Amino acid sequence: MKAGILGTGHYAPEKVLTNFDMEKIVDTSDEWIRTRTGIEERRIASDNEDTSDLAYKAALNALNEAELSAEDLDLILVATVTPDQAFPTVSCILQDRLGASKAAAMDISAACAGFMYGVITAKQFIETGAYKHVLIIGADKLSKITDWTDRNTCVLFGDGAGAAVMGPVSEDKGILSFELGSDGSGGKHLAQENEHIIMNGREVFKFAVRQMPESSVNVVEKAGYAKEDVDYLIPHQANIRIMEAARQRLGIDPEKLAVNVNKYGNTSAASIPIALSEGVKEGKIKDNDLVVLVGFGGGLTWGAVALKWGK
Ligand code: ACO
Repeated sequence: MKAGILGTGHYAPEKVLTNFDMEKIVDTSDEWIRTRTGIEERRIASDNEDTSDLAYKAALNALNEAELSAEDLDLILVATVTPDQAFPTVSCILQDRLGASKAAAMDISAACAGFMYGVITAKQFIETGAYKHVLIIGADKLSKITDWTDRNTCVLFGDGAGAAVMGPVSEDKGILSFELGSDGSGGKHLAQENEHIIMNGREVFKFAVRQMPESSVNVVEKAGYAKEDVDYLIPHQANIRIMEAARQRLGIDPEKLAVNVNKYGNTSAASIPIALSEGVKEGKIKDNDLVVLVGFGGGLTWGAVALKWGK
């Protein structure tokens, strides 16, 4: 049995904070942010909108696209480092709110790679036949742990949620290969200390610019394809320069790279599923396409899959 993606969804809060708005908050410039990161604006959730609210909207969107109801779900996985509170988990809040009467629920904590950990966990449950339909959501409201006085970090992040419903697909479709990894020795470079994010940007950059290209190539080769066969690359949207490094390593054309970091900034666990959902809705991902999803994050963590699109 093969596990694949049956539907995708996303949600970004309404409030837009542009680089020009950031210039009024810290000593920075639109030019610096755009040239170093590719970010032009980001979305910020309102005070009465928490991570579970973002996740709920993305989940409804994904269930709708999958043409399934919440009662069809066997498991809900929410990847987040900014849950509403430690417990009840965001996944349990959603189980109740969606009315997923037979679903188990747990949160996954792997920072920006969390959605990849979720997808690969879901794959195991589906391919063993233990569960049929799994809802995976990447949702983060990083604005609540952002230090709005630190220009090194506050210009980078945004809020949002993306979701995918996974289930069994035909033998020639679905997830072909995966890679997961961690390196706790690099944990100090990107962490939540007291209530805020702290980051050694240069160290994280060095790690990411090595790991994302390497993991992308690894999953393509494990799947038995050549690098150039990739039809669509969806990297974690942290920095356009890191994303470009992965694209160039695969040797694929610029239009095959999913880019929305300009609109949303780095939305942590939400970034890959938002880009995936947009890619599907904009017709950039088509039946039988070879798609690579690849992420890295605090921990340090990373994960990638190669998949054949379609049911
Ligand atoms: N505006 C203006 N100047 C700034 C800003 C800013 N917002 N932020 C930092 N600077 C300054 C610094 O103070 C430093 O100045 P100094 O040299 O006088 O000390 C200088 O800019 C640093 O410049 P560069 O070295 O050219 O910056 P770099 O090219 O390394 O880009 C960046 C910095 C964008 C943070 C980069 O290192 C990066 O993207 N790193 C990876 C970060 C990342 O991906 N984080 C997310 C991880 S995912 C997760 O789990 C959340």
